[in-house]
Order: sequence, then C-alpha cells, then structure tokens
Amino acid sequence: MTQQKGVNLRDIPVSAGQRFLQVTARQEGSPQDRWRLRSSCPSGLVVALRCSECGLQAAALRVVGGTDVAPGRWPWQVSVCQGSQHRCGGSVLAPEWILTAAHCVHRQLPAPAWLVFAGIVTHGSAQPQAGVPVREIIPHPLYSPSSLDYDIALLRLRVPLNFSGAIRAVCLPPSGRDLLQGTPCWVSGWGYTAPEQAQVAATLKEALVPLIGTRRCNSSCVYRGELTARMLCAGHLQGHVDACQGDSGGPLVCWDGATWRLVGVVSWGQGCAEPNHPGVYSNVAQLLPWIHQVTQAH
Ligand code: ARG
Repeated sequence: MTQQKGVNLRDIPVSAGQRFLQVTARQEGSPQDRWRLRSSCPSGLVVALRCSECGLQAAALRVVGGTDVAPGRWPWQVSVCQGSQHRCGGSVLAPEWILTAAHCVHRQLPAPAWLVFAGIVTHGSAQPQAGVPVREIIPHPLYSPSSLDYDIALLRLRVPLNFSGAIRAVCLPPSGRDLLQGTPCWVSGWGYTAPEQAQVAATLKEALVPLIGTRRCNSSCVYRGELTARMLCAGHLQGHVDACQGDSGGPLVCWDGATWRLVGVVSWGQGCAEPNHPGVYSNVAQLLPWIHQVTQAH
C-alpha cells in the first residue's frame, strides 16, 4: 500500500541537523546512483512516502487439482465467514483492510454478521473468538451483479490484525500494466476441491494457474466477449486445475522478482476446471484508484 505525494518543505516539521536525500530526475541507474545526501533542501520540494511491508512469505496450500498449503505460505489469505460458515476468501492489504469479491457480500447480511479469520490453514481449527469482526463492507460502486464487472469489495475490520509470520499483507500491483500471457501465478482457497462435491476444503489449497491473455479468453471458443477490462483469466484451457465455489474473493498472486503481488481476485468461471472455461478474476491493476481512495478516506 505505498502511496506518494509532493509536499512543501515549509509545511513539514524539520529538526535541527536533519539531512535530505536529493533525488535526480534521471531514470537510468540503480536507485542508489540517483540519491545524494544533502544538508539542505534548496528546492523546498519533498516527496512524502507511505510504505508498508507486503508480499513476503514467512518461510520458504475451492481449488480443483490443487495441493495442501504449509502454514505461512500465503499469509495474506483469509477466510471471510458468516458466523463460523466459510463463504469466501479474501486478502489482507493492511492491518484493517481485507479485499474480497463484491459478489460475496453484495445484498447479503450487514457487517456485524461477518467474521474474518486470518493466519489459519485448517478450517475448524480456529476458535470462533479468533474471528475478527467486520466494521464496514464497501463494495465497488460500479459492481454489476449481472455481468460481475467491478467484482471487488473492501472489508474494514473492527480491530486491526496483529501481523506475524502467519498474517501479513500482500502487495498491490503497479497500476494499469497488464502482465504477459503465461506468467505463472498462484491461486489459493478453501473452495470445493471437486465441482460435483459441494463441500469446502478443511485445509487451504493452492494451484499454479498461468495468466491467459484477454483476447484469447474472450475468443469464440472460450468466453465469447463476456470479459470486461476489469477482468482477467488464469488457468489451463485443457481444464483440470482451477478455482471453484468458495474460492471467490481470494487471491491470485504473481511473483515480480521481489515480492508477491495481488494481481487478481477470484470472481467467476463456467463450472470449475472445465476445458476452455478457465477462472476469471477481477483485474486488481485496473481497480487501484478506488482501492486507494477508500483506504485513504477511512
Ligand atoms: N463464484 C465462485 C465463488 O463464489 C468462484 C468461482 C470461480 N470459478 C472458477 N471456475 N474459477 O466462490
């Protein structure tokens, strides 16, 4: 959840002997090459950064065709529950903020009926009192139940999560830049492990689901133009491995070489793991302005 803004030096408190890092406008070179330590700031222009640690795994589990997950592998994965009933997945963005799918919470029970379980791998092992109550449910204002366009919602928790090895935030992707087809990404969740078996998994599952280009996914033999710019596809056109019911709202993450980033939110699919019907995810990079706006305003 990094944010940046320009501020004037005269609007911020400066202590005696404070030094500055001057940043050059040059784009080339490593960040270190572009910094110079200064004792004053003649331009009077300062960049304020808000940083939060994200996207790191502790050490280093319905997903159809997936495998069990070790604790701490996806520490941003949460279970979004009505009482003790698992309804959807979600991702930790910050101690008070969970990102999930709008279809999970739209026209459902109000905030007090919901609990978020973080830092768990096995469902049922958690005591109900370990669930964190939801203060506020904020679905995207443009969410459409018929097309599932803008299928994301933010949950603001009543008490902030205690970050640990088992509970951490995921990083958001850079804005509006779509990743290449074939990028290996991971989906995780407690959803159905067989489409015909209407039961959520006891243990968190994970599966490798490469990104599929939107043009391909919108083609006549796949989703025939049903995808909007707020959606992306991931999975296997031959079927067998996919998210399923109960995985909705959960994370699709991709490794960018330094951190795990939340590229998608499990949204929909025709059946589960069927040939030519891969999983469809909300495209987080296209929805960042709203996420930043809501989390900053509250
Ligand atoms: N809508 C489903 C849910 O509420 C998730 C569907 C994902 N389907 C898929 N084939 N990837 O849990």
